[in-house]
Amino acid sequence: MKCKVCRGPAVIDIRRHNANFCADHFLKYCRDQVSKAIHEFKMATPDERLLIAVSGGKDSLAIWDLLGELGYQADGLYVGLGIGEYSETSGRYARDFADKRDLKLLEIDLRSEYGYDVPTASAATRRVPCSACGMSKRHLFDKAALDGGYDALVTGHNLDDEAAVLYGNVLRWQTDYLARQRPVLPERNGFPRKVKPLIRLSERETAAYCVLRGIDYLVEECPMAAGNKHLAFKESLNAAEQQSPGTKHDFYFSFLRKAADKFIDPEAEPLGVCERCGAPAGSELCSFCRIVEKASNHEPVPVELVNRKYR
Ligand code: AMP
Ligand code: FES
Ligand code: ZN
Ligand code: ZN
Repeated sequence: MKCKVCRGPAVIDIRRHNANFCADHFLKYCRDQVSKAIHEFKMATPDERLLIAVSGGKDSLAIWDLLGELGYQADGLYVGLGIGEYSETSGRYARDFADKRDLKLLEIDLRSEYGYDVPTASAATRRVPCSACGMSKRHLFDKAALDGGYDALVTGHNLDDEAAVLYGNVLRWQTDYLARQRPVLPERNGFPRKVKPLIRLSERETAAYCVLRGIDYLVEECPMAAGNKHLAFKESLNAAEQQSPGTKHDFYFSFLRKAADKFIDPEAEPLGVCERCGAPAGSELCSFCRIVEKASNHEPVPVELVNRKYR
């Protein structure tokens, strides 16, 4: 296996591009893909301040590193979700990454700052953990980006994530979600600009990037996400990709090119304002403040108990 660029020994094959790369040219490929996504979708400019939501996993640490390599100024934001040992370890990976590179990491802890954690919110709201978790994260990401005066909020969603979410949304024709499934959501109505610069790289590629760059990341998946639908969609798409390399890329990018504009986002209409926190809200309280109200009054629930309930 030879590198497509220099003909030296290759360390990775990228079947959808029909290419093999040596370590140096693979790292360049990753930078080029991120740069291309940023320019193509007008995600950010180098003079802007970015806030990256960092989970301690491979994707968010890879994009933090890649943006630095490409000359962007980016701080990190870690949210402590209180998912037992998983959260403690993930926080350590995020902190270590920032400390070693002298980068700024903001931290928010759900339990100490808002009086609840994800397992408890799941029990209190009677929703699957990922739903309370996603809602809490989205609210806190938006708030931190706006309060800190950042130009955009960056997340580490990669090609596999976006293709799997698209697949799930199409299977149920969730048109509201389809309208919002963009690599860039512009700043509007109390929301910051949100960007996903990893959409041109797959999960396998961000993992290889971290290994080659010496980035330590949390390999373990969230214990509360085990068995969720998202993972099943990823598996189906992996089977299709195996048969026909490039399927995921075509599925997602053809959607953006040919279909995304056809869906109308209900959130594009200005929403009201939450009475308690001032965030955009469809009713008196925003969904985050509703979770806080229910979960902070609930007795703390350990991870294991919630997991038993949803399996
Ligand atoms: P997930 O929803 O777990 O697939 O994560 C998607 C993206 O959300 C990650 O790539 C990160 O950018 C961000 N993220 C997830 N969990 C956290 C966390 N605990 N703190 C900060 N950012 C996170
Ligand atoms: Fe949110 Fe697992 S990270 S439920
Ligand atoms: Zn090479
Ligand atoms: Zn609120």
